[in-house]
Amino acid sequence: MVNTKVTLSGWELDNPVIPASGTFNFGKEFADFYDINMLGTFSFKGTTREPRFGNPTPRIAETPMGMINSVGLQNPGIHAVIEHELPELKKIFNKKVIANISGYSVEEYVYCCQLIDKEDQVGIIEVNVSCPNVHGGGMAFGTDPKNVYEVTKAVKAVTTKPVYVKLSPNVTDIVEIAKAAEAGGADGISLINTLLGMRIDLKTKKPVIANKMGGFSGPAIFPVALRMVYQVAHAVNIPVIGMGGVSSAEDVIEMMMAGATAVQVGAANLVNPYACKEIIENLPKVMEKYGIKDLNDIIGIA
Ligand code: FUM
Repeated sequence: MVNTKVTLSGWELDNPVIPASGTFNFGKEFADFYDINMLGTFSFKGTTREPRFGNPTPRIAETPMGMINSVGLQNPGIHAVIEHELPELKKIFNKKVIANISGYSVEEYVYCCQLIDKEDQVGIIEVNVSCPNVHGGGMAFGTDPKNVYEVTKAVKAVTTKPVYVKLSPNVTDIVEIAKAAEAGGADGISLINTLLGMRIDLKTKKPVIANKMGGFSGPAIFPVALRMVYQVAHAVNIPVIGMGGVSSAEDVIEMMMAGATAVQVGAANLVNPYACKEIIENLPKVMEKYGIKDLNDIIGIA
């Protein structure tokens, strides 16, 4: 019998597998496929103060071993999430969830985080300063350590729940940004969001995506994500949730050996809706294969 339980800021998860924001909506589509209560938890769709329709289509481009998206933070807005999505989720999910919050100004982050902080169903607030698909928000915050510090500090001042800051890989020095979040009072770090990418259609001679560029994710980015998780986990004294191209139980273990306490799975959910279920079912077998009795023993072991 192996132990797959891990703890994030005092919150014990049955296992470290967490569908990533933007790949699991608010859970109900996946509940049609399997009992989502088997998940560690999940991170809900990036939510802003106002409802957002998202970017013009096409928003998706395929790549070898991955995909590019430019969804543009389509979401129903914080009030609809609190009034409709969370009550609906409660009917099918008996665990706490991670609330992914995005914004265009420090005030917007503060507004949304203050509201979501009151919700019992939320275990962690994931402050998304890394969406590459909106102008003047998201990644615009996450690429400047001063902004990351300021947003984190402002959000921490109005919340009681653990705050994890989700970082962009589109920076020169990820450690500097992670340390800025830690200095601002972050309880943990989530990384990486997507890499800025692009494809051009040879027939039309134009970018495939209407917004020209988008966030590149999928197995192709796993080594980059692993490297950044390793660098950050060794530089900060707060837990790290690792993500980026994770698609197997072996990838989860590798991320944890790099220093992640828990692991998010993103693009894999869009290829195979059972991806997280299969990873959770395989995890004990892969642990046994490599002589791992307790996942907590391997965090940062590499
Ligand atoms: O475009 C999007 O909604 C992506 C969000 C993100 O990468 O955080």
